[in-house]
Amino acid sequence: MPGERILATGASGRLGAVLREHAAMTSRRLACWSGPTTRDPGLRPVEITDPRAVETALAADDPSVVIHAAAVSAAGEAYRDPERARKVNVEATARVADWCVRHHRRLILVSTDLVFDGTGSWRAEDDLARPVMVYGQTKRAAEMVLEGRPGCLSARMSLLYGPTPSARGSFFDQAIASLRSGVPQAFFTDEFRTPLDYATAARVLLMLATTHLIGIVHVGGPERMSRHEHMRQCAIALGIDPTLALPNQSRDVPSAEPRPLDVSLDSSRLLEHLPDLRRPTVRDALAAR
Ligand SMILES: NC(=O)c1ccc[n+]([C@@H]2O[C@H](COP(=O)([O-])OP(=O)(O)OC[C@H]3O[C@@H](n4cnc5c(N)ncnc54)[C@H](OP(=O)(O)O)[C@@H]3O)[C@@H](O)[C@H]2O)c1
Repeated sequence: MPGERILATGASGRLGAVLREHAAMTSRRLACWSGPTTRDPGLRPVEITDPRAVETALAADDPSVVIHAAAVSAAGEAYRDPERARKVNVEATARVADWCVRHHRRLILVSTDLVFDGTGSWRAEDDLARPVMVYGQTKRAAEMVLEGRPGCLSARMSLLYGPTPSARGSFFDQAIASLRSGVPQAFFTDEFRTPLDYATAARVLLMLATTHLIGIVHVGGPERMSRHEHMRQCAIALGIDPTLALPNQSRDVPSAEPRPLDVSLDSSRLLEHLPDLRRPTVRDALAAR
């Protein structure tokens, strides 16, 4: 909708950078927040755990829709500092949600497939969310803050992959750089996801901004695959020898926390509301680059 004033929090992150790129390509106005230490003039530095800073910045940008992507997004970081994860992922979300409800604005929380415990496939929105990792627990707590509140939507994203203009490296970037240089890497054959490329994820969030969908929606890719198969497909699409992607199992790698095995998402609800949406396969998403 032409009159929308969309604000993206976490716009200095990997997904945020793609959101900015996509908004610019489609001539959409997007106000962008980062953490407090940015030097990028296109971003408003806001410490999201500071109530006064958040209130002031919301009043200044006066968004009609907030896409709330700011988070402690690395599971390991959340595990090491659960208090900070709770402040950023839950308390800050509650503050932004309060403002949106008070001002009758729309809020889209960028949530995660890791709210599930990994014991089922193709999870639907009303399946029981029982996160096993601190990160997933904080994101689920944030979703619960939004529950039943007008205009609020939790968009649960699957594992995101693909290029992003963010300077911040991702698991995907590191893995591809390693395979490209001929160094084999092992990936789990027993962890299943419905991976979605960053570009489609950003496009979906901007589309959701103009719908009235509320509650929870799953935003996954069209294919359920193991993390090993995912990286094999990425290698093939990028012209890298796929045999460099070696198989291993999650139990082969020590982990401080339990890891959910299968958090594949059924995105039927999303497709009902966005019937024209095309989600590329892994090969197509990367071949287009
Ligand atoms: N990547 C995935 O595979 C994936 C999958 C499912 C869901 N998600 C969700 O998608 C969202 C974006 O993920 P991402 O991969 O783009 O994460 P990311 O690269 O780690 O970016 C996180 C963003 O949050 C901001 N942030 C963190 N703490 C902040 C604070 N105290 N105050 C203000 N801003 C703060 C960061 O700002 P600065 O760096 O400038 O401080 C950055 O812009 C997150 O909500 C994540 O939970 C990601």
